[in-house]
Amino acid sequence: MENKKVILSGIQATGNLTLGNYIGALKNFVKMQDEYDCYYMIANLHALTVRRDPAELKENTLKVLATYIAAGIDPEKSTIFVQSQVHEHAELGWVLDCYTYMGELSRMTQFKDKSEKHADNINAGLFTYPSLMAGDILLYQADVVPVGEDQKQHLEITRDIAERFNKLYGDTFKVPEPYIPKAGARIMGLQDPASKMSKSSTIPNDTILLVDTPEEIMKKVKKAVTDSEGIVKYDVENKPGVSNLMTIYSVIKNISLDEVEKQFEGKGYGEFKTTVGEAIVKELEPFHKKYNELMNDKIYLEKIYTEGSRKASEKARKTLNLVYNKVGLV
Ligand code: TYM
Repeated sequence: MENKKVILSGIQATGNLTLGNYIGALKNFVKMQDEYDCYYMIANLHALTVRRDPAELKENTLKVLATYIAAGIDPEKSTIFVQSQVHEHAELGWVLDCYTYMGELSRMTQFKDKSEKHADNINAGLFTYPSLMAGDILLYQADVVPVGEDQKQHLEITRDIAERFNKLYGDTFKVPEPYIPKAGARIMGLQDPASKMSKSSTIPNDTILLVDTPEEIMKKVKKAVTDSEGIVKYDVENKPGVSNLMTIYSVIKNISLDEVEKQFEGKGYGEFKTTVGEAIVKELEPFHKKYNELMNDKIYLEKIYTEGSRKASEKARKTLNLVYNKVGLV
């Protein structure tokens, strides 16, 4: 345990997760838990950057926790915790705010996107979001951070902040490496394959949620936008819809895109979509059963995050003490 490298990653407490979250992040969280000492967080402080109903935020925190466990994260192996329960996150976040420049924050594409989407609420938290995220990672001295493509820029700024701090005060933080999967790091919307699949999409049938029923999944995949060529071939530029479905299928079946092309040679989109839809349904079948059981056992969920948060605090406190000492906070 002691010699294992450390992983920290998290997902925002924004409720029902998507197939994009699953393929880009969650599947890798599960895969990596035997080899690494893993800390998986439910990012509820980050969720406050957009207005939320308080009761819903609480419920969503449990939903993400249930999703983690139902997807295969084993609370005996990995530490699962809630960000707000480990107060060191908010504290280190503040310190790191003071070592992060306005210029670098204003270049973040997530900030630009979210400011456009929520023009009536461009709050300071939305702007300093990346320093809090850097704190999440650096508190655990994480070696590796598994994330999807959209978080790459936040990992780069985390590395910059860590290096800047280390240069000023001597070795304090481990400089983390992102782990971005080669396939599936950016799953696109089924109706709008030019944009990433997102739970906040307002287009009907654009997003597959992990809690969707098999019927809903089949319907959404069958309605997915393709093209008029009728050939299953990977070509993101000219065939973004088909390429996206191919990526989803290749990750779930653990086969290459070439193999997907071969499998569907001479076959039309109808058969292709049915096969992809069925593969998703099959992949999520065990998840569904476990998720529903867990959501009916809130006492168990509370026990898991309370214990996880206690364990996470122990590790986080050491780093925070070191940082306070270095910068001269008594
Ligand atoms: P969030 O909650 O938006 O997404 C969680 C994870 O899912 C990945 N992801 C996707 N991957 C592939 N295709 C998609 N369409 C797709 N949509 C989402 C994201 O890249 C991410 O890995 N800021 C983070 C949460 C966070 C965090 C952290 C992550 C807070 N602190 C520390 C890592 C380390 C976020 O908003 O992710």
